[in-house]
Amino acid sequence: MVRGFVDSNGDGSGDLSGLISRLDYLQWLGVDALWLPPFYMSPLKDGGYDVSDFKAILPDFGTVDEFKDLVTKAHERNMRIVIDYPLNHTSDQHDWFQQSRADPTGPYGDFYVWSDTDEKYPNIRIIFVDTEESNWTFDPVRRQFFFHRFFSHQPDLNFEHPAVREAVFDTVRFWMDLGVDGIRLDAIPYLFESEDGNGEGEPETHAFIRELRAMMDRDYPGRILIAEANQWPQEVAQFFGTEEEPECHMAFDFPVMPRIFYSLRSQQAGELIRILSETTEAPPTAGWGVFLRNHDELTLEMVSEEYRQAMYGWYAYDPRMRSNIGIRRRLAPLLDNSRAELELAHALLFSLKGSPFLYYGDEIGMGDNIWLPDRDSSRTPMQWTPDRNAGFSTADPGKLYLPIVQSLVYNYNLINVESQLAQSRSLLHWVRNVIHVRKAHPAFGLGTLRILETDHESVLAFVREYEGTGTQFGDSPENILCVFSFAHNPVSVKIQAEEFAGSTLFDLFGGGQFPTVEDDGSITLTLGTQSFYWLHVGDSHFAGGRS
Ligand code: NOJ
Repeated sequence: MVRGFVDSNGDGSGDLSGLISRLDYLQWLGVDALWLPPFYMSPLKDGGYDVSDFKAILPDFGTVDEFKDLVTKAHERNMRIVIDYPLNHTSDQHDWFQQSRADPTGPYGDFYVWSDTDEKYPNIRIIFVDTEESNWTFDPVRRQFFFHRFFSHQPDLNFEHPAVREAVFDTVRFWMDLGVDGIRLDAIPYLFESEDGNGEGEPETHAFIRELRAMMDRDYPGRILIAEANQWPQEVAQFFGTEEEPECHMAFDFPVMPRIFYSLRSQQAGELIRILSETTEAPPTAGWGVFLRNHDELTLEMVSEEYRQAMYGWYAYDPRMRSNIGIRRRLAPLLDNSRAELELAHALLFSLKGSPFLYYGDEIGMGDNIWLPDRDSSRTPMQWTPDRNAGFSTADPGKLYLPIVQSLVYNYNLINVESQLAQSRSLLHWVRNVIHVRKAHPAFGLGTLRILETDHESVLAFVREYEGTGTQFGDSPENILCVFSFAHNPVSVKIQAEEFAGSTLFDLFGGGQFPTVEDDGSITLTLGTQSFYWLHVGDSHFAGGRS
């Protein structure tokens, strides 16, 4: 979040120039693309997802020239810039809405979804259940109700109207022409509503994305579209489209994420295995985006009521930790600062199928502040040093957009980049090392994932298989066996991998040799409490990590 990363001018808010000044840090960490949540003109009532002008940058964050500079400097480091585009709605401060409410027959009269009643679309669920009682709000100016999937200050655009669709294309072109490499399509399932449907992934929505993709492929080849679709695997996968009629290049894997957290506490791998087996294959030119945390609450919409209650009990025992249908905490506090759990969770993140996304600050195990409202709890300033304002800003501490975390365990005096750089065994160095080991093995980025059978309910085992042909990574095939134990005590486990019978296994980090796979294809391993292995099958040459 630009707002939370570095403040270059001492006004208390992070900005683009500040971000530019820390690109070296991100490059050192191994980050190769930045997803920037909205930095457009906005009253900031929804963290910038309430946009009042899609072609202007909020002055607190910088200027278009500074943005161009960011793109150039990122590209110099071989880093991509992905911007966030909340195309489904605008702020009620957007000029389009102001004109729409004032002049129903004017050029913007149909830009939003207006109705004389608040009873249309009864099948459409409310997303922000903590604050909204209806998806309709009465506008006293136009004397009609307007539709909104999110906050009542965020009216939904009317995608039925060709001028709205053209305005979206126009915005995309504006940012593409500035050199951005991709767009996260915010709230993408909700573009169109229908009388009978639930307003999530309606056929017209998919048709629109196909048009957008065709335009991108034609005019901006090589740039990507990422779908934010918080839905079940089969539904999310529809946002990939097909090879013939592609939609997005990438979609966030919402179903997998909460199940990682479920496994960590239940000590059961079964539910994660079930959802990984269900996760539909992406077309060859598309892929999943995997994440543990982001700027939103840890959403529990994609789990059953029983699992949800269990997760609230484990992870949100204080009601202040909850938000909507989810948990508004950061990664380290969720895992009670357990180094074993943090490592296990990251090892999963970096070896599951798809591109891993990190949330700023999680690489140092930053804490949160549940006394702040809504999702601000985990949007506090990045902690760079133990100095004033954690090195984030030179402003008077009272002027910061949010206070720095000062809790007992996560106080910025203890948790900051500078001190973790100075400790070779810090979480920061560990995360960086894992990222670099992952990058050295194309199987993680390009290979298939096949779940293996085990005889222990706490163990997840899969193999990442890469044929090694037809890519710039050379033609060496590689198979990596990944084993994770969620048990809260050491375990011994037998894994079945017939096709590897007789092969020797080598630890990917240190190159250490493991026992040879038995002739019947079984492998017996012991794992310490909440630990994992990444093992190269059959070739010591490729194993052996960096330190
Ligand atoms: C999804 C974004 O991630 C979230 O932060 C925002 O509140 C909603 N979309 C509405 O734009």
